Amino acid sequence: MNITYFGHSSFQIEFGGKNLVFDPFISPNPAAASIDVNTIKADYVLLSHGHADHVVDAERIAKNNGATLISNYEIVTYYQGKGINGHGLNHGGKWKFDFGWVKYVYATHSSVLPDGTYGGNPGGFVIWNDTEGCFYFAGDTALTMDMKLIPQTCPKLDFAILPIGDNFTMGYDDAAIAAEFIECNTIIGCHFDTFPPVKIDHDAAKKAFEAKGKRLLLPPVGEGISLK
Ligand code: NI
Ligand code: MN
Repeated sequence: MNITYFGHSSFQIEFGGKNLVFDPFISPNPAAASIDVNTIKADYVLLSHGHADHVVDAERIAKNNGATLISNYEIVTYYQGKGINGHGLNHGGKWKFDFGWVKYVYATHSSVLPDGTYGGNPGGFVIWNDTEGCFYFAGDTALTMDMKLIPQTCPKLDFAILPIGDNFTMGYDDAAIAAEFIECNTIIGCHFDTFPPVKIDHDAAKKAFEAKGKRLLLPPVGEGISLK
């Protein structure tokens, strides 16, 4: 499994032989200036919710690649209106794609598309297949008790991508509790440092996870992430 960080909450994960691109916000992000959106390969584009800092490059990447969009029903319907294929889900629902299962799970946040269109309920994704394991991409969310349902209803998580920047989402102290709720020891942090309100102290964030016996990875933008 290859994981590449594109900055903010944007990742590319090769899973089940397909390229999954999550929450692409690359072209407006100065920290991601080294990444050319037009060279990104995607079979699927997954959007956790409708906010601009998660969807701004979705249309371009999907159209460049003929990719399939996976999101909530409302966001998928919106992009279908722009000629993009998609598969809509809603909270608690899962669907088997050619790379594996995707379950759309609860997130405590808000969701509106950049042009003001209603963006459905924000969510996260739990993704798994039989050979490569299982991971959770939380999207933007507060710490929520519903996270405890994930280990009860999904395969054991190998890693999770959690927001840690505070202000718009949970901060790293709450995210470390989330790691306990989801029973996962390896966390990749996201939604930090992009804007002044989400700037964090990296050492303090890592210590908050270490105190709970967890590992927090803070990947540099544009680099592959090794889980070893
Ligand atoms: Ni958001
Ligand atoms: Mn956000």
